[in-house]
Amino acid sequence: MKLNEPLLNETYFRANRENWNERVERHVGTKYYDVQRFLSGRCTLGAVELKALGDVAGMRILHLQCHFGLDTLSLSRMGGIVTGVDFSDTAIQKAREIAERAGLSAEFHCANVYSVCDVLDCGSFDLVFASYGVFCWIPDLFRWFSAASAMLKPHGRVFIVDGHPMLDMLSYDADSLSFNGRYFHEKTPELCTVEESYTGDGGRLVNSTTYQWSHHMGEYATAAGSTGLTIRILEEFPYCYFRKYPCMVQRTGGYWEIPDRDWPLMFSMDCSKTPVV
Ligand SMILES: C[S@@+](CC[C@H](N)C(=O)[O-])C[C@H]1O[C@@H](n2cnc3c(N)ncnc32)[C@H](O)[C@@H]1O
Repeated sequence: MKLNEPLLNETYFRANRENWNERVERHVGTKYYDVQRFLSGRCTLGAVELKALGDVAGMRILHLQCHFGLDTLSLSRMGGIVTGVDFSDTAIQKAREIAERAGLSAEFHCANVYSVCDVLDCGSFDLVFASYGVFCWIPDLFRWFSAASAMLKPHGRVFIVDGHPMLDMLSYDADSLSFNGRYFHEKTPELCTVEESYTGDGGRLVNSTTYQWSHHMGEYATAAGSTGLTIRILEEFPYCYFRKYPCMVQRTGGYWEIPDRDWPLMFSMDCSKTPVV
């Protein structure tokens, strides 16, 4: 639903946080996240980021919008010195509990990405990482990339992977595969009612009102470029990280593609910080 009057970001963030807090409570126990398998040693990172990130041993890694920390802790298992940040206090509490149960070292902080500079030291990370389902919650990409860039040491790296803007344009009508969504970013978000989460646990969410933003490719590139980052690699993939349509088929590596369509459904961006001379 399109809003008539823009509200304050704080109103949007509050509603989104309530929705995420409730989702975390449910997600932790789902087959989708399978915490038990994680505790037995499963790495929760996807093939795309595993290939792109390579050896992270010894790197100071900041995972933004870390949810309840399974990917953050997978990076810790790979030898990274990890910090996870999320604005959901429930997510951060669960992440700390899981870290303790797994015997893994990690720091977790409850903060909005916009104010990460208030809780962590600027210029202290080798890598800022964020993945899968993060940018639709961000009103302004410039603010997100500014925060990420500020956290990096000189020559540090930002790696992101998320749904392609084209994926958001595709309607949820399973039969038609038509485009009816926004491509270009607008300041005013969409009011989206999320009554069930993507984990398929069937539970109805009480805090179902959320506010979400679409972002176009040029916006990502401009936001990165104007916050002291150089884009090294921008990749687009004809598959995505969740099954949006029943007709989708799963590829090796776990991603989902639409048969006979080469539409871009996911993208990744690898940037490095350009030191000011
Ligand atoms: C789809 S989840 C990320 C999923 C993650 N890749 C995973 O599967 O574990 C999005 C996360 O972003 C967080 N989030 C949304 N808006 C945020 C904001 N402005 N600042 C910090 N965290 C935010 C939510 O609390 C949620 O945990």
